[in-house]
Amino acid sequence: LTDNALRLYPLPAREISSGAIYEDIELPPRKRCDPSRPYVIVNVVASVDGKTTIEGKAARIGSEVDRRTMRTLRSRVDAVMIGANTLRAEKLSLGLDELSAGHQPIAVIITKTGDVPLETNLITGERQEVLVVVAQTTPESSMDRLRERGSVLRVAASPTGGVDIKEALEALKVERGVELVLVEGGPRLIYSLVSQSVADELFLTLSPKLIGGEGSDASTILDGGEFPQPRIPGLLLVSVHLFNDELYLRYRLADPRAARG
Ligand SMILES: NC(=O)c1ccc[n+]([C@@H]2O[C@H](COP(=O)([O-])OP(=O)(O)OC[C@H]3O[C@@H](n4cnc5c(N)ncnc54)[C@H](OP(=O)(O)O)[C@@H]3O)[C@@H](O)[C@H]2O)c1
Repeated sequence: LTDNALRLYPLPAREISSGAIYEDIELPPRKRCDPSRPYVIVNVVASVDGKTTIEGKAARIGSEVDRRTMRTLRSRVDAVMIGANTLRAEKLSLGLDELSAGHQPIAVIITKTGDVPLETNLITGERQEVLVVVAQTTPESSMDRLRERGSVLRVAASPTGGVDIKEALEALKVERGVELVLVEGGPRLIYSLVSQSVADELFLTLSPKLIGGEGSDASTILDGGEFPQPRIPGLLLVSVHLFNDELYLRYRLADPRAARG
C-alpha cells in the first residue's frame, strides 16, 4: 500500500503524495469572470451511480483522502457555505480542526425558513464565525435564536423561492470581504448556483461505490428542474487525480471568456 496518488491529468501523469491533492492550485485564478461577487467553488462527493447520500447522509460516501482534500480546499477559502437541509441531515463542521493555526473560514448557512439546527448540528471551531443568510421574508421570530449562535445577513427572497443567491454572494463580498467561497452542498443549493451561472468550479470526488435508491432517496449532485437543452452548462476538465479507486475531478464551468489552465 502506498500513500501516493496519481495526478492523471493534465499530462504527463505523475505520482504525488495523496495529501498534496489540490494543495498548489491557484485560487481564485487570476482570470476571474465577475468581480462583483466572490469566486465560487463547489465541492461534492458522489458514488459512481451519481448518488450523494447513504441513508440520507453524505458522511460515509468518500474516503479519508476525500475528507483531506475537503480540508485542503477549506484552508484556502474565506467562507464555507451549505444549504439548510445539509445541516438538518447530520452533525457537521464547516471549519478546520482546532490545531490548524489562525485561519478559519466563515461558516455560512443559507435558509429561508430560518429554522436551522445550529445548536445541535453545527460544530464550530473556537475562532469560527457563523453567518446565517436569510431572506427579507424570513420570520422575525427565528432571528433571536439564530443570533445566539452567529450573525444574520438578510437579502432579498428569490422569485423562485429561497434566498436570492446572487444577492447573497454580492453581500458576502461587500459586507464581509469574502473573495472565495467553497460551497459544500447540498444538491438544491448547488442547483441554484449553477442555474444562475454563479458557480465557477466543481470539485467532484467519485467514490467507487454503487448506492442505488429511488425517488427522493436518490438525489444526485444537482436537485432542480432539467435545464433546457441550449442552457445545459458545459464543463471544462481542469485536473484528475486518482487514489486507490477514488477519482478527484476538477472542472471549470464553461464560460467563453475563461481559458483552460
Ligand atoms: N455528497 C455530498 O457531497 C453532499 C454534500 C452536501 C449535502 N449532501 C446531502 O444532501 C442532502 C441535503 O441537500 P438538499 O439538496 O436537500 O438541500 P440543501 O441544498 O442542503 O439545502 C436546501 C435548503 O437551503 C435553503 N435555501 C434557501 N435559499 C435557497 C436557494 N436559493 N437555493 C437552494 N436552497 C436554498 C432552503 O432551506 P429552508 O427550508 O430553511 O428555507 C432549502 O430547503 C442531505 O441529505 C445531505 O446529506 C450531500
